Amino acid sequence: MNIILMGPPGAGKGTQSERILDYCSIPHISTGDMFREAIKNQTELGVLAQSYINKGLLVPDEVTIGLVKERLSRDDCKNGYLLDGFPRTIPQAEALQVLAKEISRPVQLVINIEADKDELIRRISGRRVCPKCGNSYHLLFKLPKVENICDACGSELIQRKDDTLESLNVRLDAYENQTKPLVEFYSKLGLCKTVNGLQSIDDVFNDIQKLLDEVK
Ligand code: AP5
Repeated sequence: MNIILMGPPGAGKGTQSERILDYCSIPHISTGDMFREAIKNQTELGVLAQSYINKGLLVPDEVTIGLVKERLSRDDCKNGYLLDGFPRTIPQAEALQVLAKEISRPVQLVINIEADKDELIRRISGRRVCPKCGNSYHLLFKLPKVENICDACGSELIQRKDDTLESLNVRLDAYENQTKPLVEFYSKLGLCKTVNGLQSIDDVFNDIQKLLDEVK
């Protein structure tokens, strides 16, 4: 399956990706995770990406497209992919159309998770992540077993640097102005299906599972 997961910051893309991967074994390609890994290792890409991400801005298209092009060309994408957080702009979506054709893996389904601004702020401000293994928690909705400690690896949880209210407002604007037009782009291609992200994590996945079953 060749799938894109879209939605504003905090809509639940990362959370639902975990469920989707349990259901269909395809590589998870999250540009946000790839940038965070590069920042952790302070590579050239990481240093560049950091200057945009911490302010809530999108990393320039040419950098992001190059990164995804390299990732999609790897062998494990021959059986499909789950793109999480890419594309985020019209030029990225146009580039993906070309890349997907090159690897004979055209996009089959775009899952658009919707949620309102108040809920997005509540989710982002309560999110805590593990700096070591990347697991994500929430102070209200997804508590770790031991307070502030990752269930999976025992590391102390942190708040993402771009999860401040200031950065979040910039990210929400970027979503409205640069990413939301993709809903129309993919709807015109008959690929975009919207899911109500205000439901519980389980109920959101139930809706996604039905969409996956339609293209399986
Ligand atoms: P990225 O990492 O992709 O961040 P994002 O899109 O802002 O999304 P988030 O990770 O904040 O949220 P999410 O939707 O995954 O929600 P989650 O499941 O964690 O990108 C980060 C940055 O990298 C961008 O700002 C940009 O700078 C750069 N970047 C990345 N891709 C790029 C691209 N293509 N082009 C240019 N730049 C790019 O859930 C949030 C919280 O809510 C969690 O705590 C979770 O437990 C909780 N939660 C989730 N679902 C529910 C639910 N149903 N009910 C209750 N709680 C829930």
